[in-house]
Amino acid sequence: MKNKIFISVAGLMVFYVLCFITARMCVRDNFFELAKKRQSIRAFSRKEVPQDKLNKILQCAIEAPSSCNRQAWRFLIVKDENAKEFMSKWRGLDRIRESSAIICVFVDSSFYRKQGEDKTQYMDGSAALMNIIYAAQSLGLSSCWVNCPHSEEKRKELLDFFKLSEDLRPISLVTLGYRKGGIKKPARKPLKYYILPYSD
Ligand SMILES: Cc1cc2nc3c(=O)[nH]c(=O)nc-3n(C[C@H](O)[C@H](O)[C@H](O)COP(=O)(O)O)c2cc1C
Repeated sequence: MKNKIFISVAGLMVFYVLCFITARMCVRDNFFELAKKRQSIRAFSRKEVPQDKLNKILQCAIEAPSSCNRQAWRFLIVKDENAKEFMSKWRGLDRIRESSAIICVFVDSSFYRKQGEDKTQYMDGSAALMNIIYAAQSLGLSSCWVNCPHSEEKRKELLDFFKLSEDLRPISLVTLGYRKGGIKKPARKPLKYYILPYSD
């Protein structure tokens, strides 16, 4: 009787360990699949992205690394037609109003006062932005990183329209939505092209 109980418990434990290992391996493989399949999509259907998905995406954005753990990101979610129209004019790109949502990634520049920290703002913003892109994809959405103007004049124009704090600096935009049509992802060269040769 004791032997039978021991064998059942041991069997159950082996089963759980195997399940755990398989699940871990799947998560790892899924990320490589996700990265390979990610592509910039510029045409979206009219279907709306629900707010809970946007929240999940931004929750993932704030898991990004940031210099000195500043976490200086701020996000503007642009969904209504009037604001999307403003954004497309501000950016000078008509088609971005067709997306379900435009996320503008900002950083609070008051966190970066020391000399030489200017470029760090763009790195911090971009780290969060990549998390947005992968989170969106893992939720079945498509996206495109869209560069934005960086002049002082354009920055003020944006802050004025949305009545935002003076310290905010727009880093880039991401358009999000459900893809319309299929396009081919631009091919990459073989990996060795990107790796610099080094000899000691
Ligand atoms: C910093 C940066 C700025 C970009 N700006 C734009 C943009 O303004 N408009 C656009 O359509 N795509 C933009 N993209 C997307 C690139 O065009 C796209 O990543 C590239 O063509 C490779 O295609 P893929 O993303 O499908 O692999 C940008 C990408 C990056 C990283």
